[in-house]
Amino acid sequence: MKRRQFFKIFLTAILFVAFVSFVNAQNKVLPNVVVLATGGTIAGTGESATGSSYTAGQVRIGEMIDAVPNIRKLANLTGEQTANVGSQDMSVEVWLILAKRINELLAKDDVDGVVITHGTDTQEETAFFLNLTVKSDKPVVMVSAMRSSTALSADGPLNLYNGVAVAASPLSKGMGVMVAINDAIHSAHAVKKMLTTPVHAFMSPEHGQLGTVNFGQVEFFHKPHGIHTINSEFSVDGVTELPRVDIVYGCADMSTDLIDIMVKAGAKGIIIAGVGDGNMNAGTLEAAKRITATGIHVVRASRIPVGTVLIEGEVVDEDYGTVSSDELNPQKARVLLMLALQKDKNISREKLQELMINY
Ligand code: SIN
Repeated sequence: MKRRQFFKIFLTAILFVAFVSFVNAQNKVLPNVVVLATGGTIAGTGESATGSSYTAGQVRIGEMIDAVPNIRKLANLTGEQTANVGSQDMSVEVWLILAKRINELLAKDDVDGVVITHGTDTQEETAFFLNLTVKSDKPVVMVSAMRSSTALSADGPLNLYNGVAVAASPLSKGMGVMVAINDAIHSAHAVKKMLTTPVHAFMSPEHGQLGTVNFGQVEFFHKPHGIHTINSEFSVDGVTELPRVDIVYGCADMSTDLIDIMVKAGAKGIIIAGVGDGNMNAGTLEAAKRITATGIHVVRASRIPVGTVLIEGEVVDEDYGTVSSDELNPQKARVLLMLALQKDKNISREKLQELMINY
């Protein structure tokens, strides 16, 4: 072999090795994030970009990731399709699958964070459930959209980009389960869907949003409120179902028929979305007293979207055997009561009250 030819091959080999090392180095510095897709409007499609009608849960995860420019520059991404439903059809079954899979993934050294795509309608319930059952301080970020993927100015792609940025950020460690939407980062404890359709539907009215994420730039203002993730006493290990807990909506001249039907149908706990400060009419209070005397827990939450239900307000819980949901809205109080009953079906009223205040 001529000397010149030898140097040519030698140089090519060196360049090749340098290139491979460069690519590996790039991949190593990027965090590894797994995206678990469950459906929702973010995966929805409609016939017209300017029409409001669409079907949720149509686009699959690979296609969703590929539609977001530069998202693979934020993290090494892997997608998994856990479900593909509108979140009105989210179920305890999928919650358990999600929590178990997230725990499995985050236990691995080579997984740095998880993103979950979800519908907005029950997103806060899934977020709160995971906040209580994920056993890791690595970031878990829920992402959704108010406009379908085919709508004019669809918000899903940027929300997904930002969600991956939050999951990839070292700042997100220990923040519990978060919801990243409309440039805001919310904690699972505080977040609420407050508006039916606009893109600024999610707020954290009692505690304020945790931080912001602007085109991938993450900033936190404070830590989340409430016990979560590695400090939570709840676990999904070996759990295949949760006890039935129903919600009844309070109103003027409310009848107690529904409450009695729920108990007869096998509810192990009842949440009353009471009027005002978790109030209810005299008949419902008497029904609550009768039911709690049989050992079924009744939790007073409120149909008012913002505020705390006082333990000693117009209703004094001790007099009726009830429990206040404190800051938890009816749907989150339901999640907590289901987990509490799953852990201890004979949980005391006092212990349940403590949980409502602390989580
Ligand atoms: C859903 O919750 O799946 C439908 C609504 C939405 O995602 O915005």
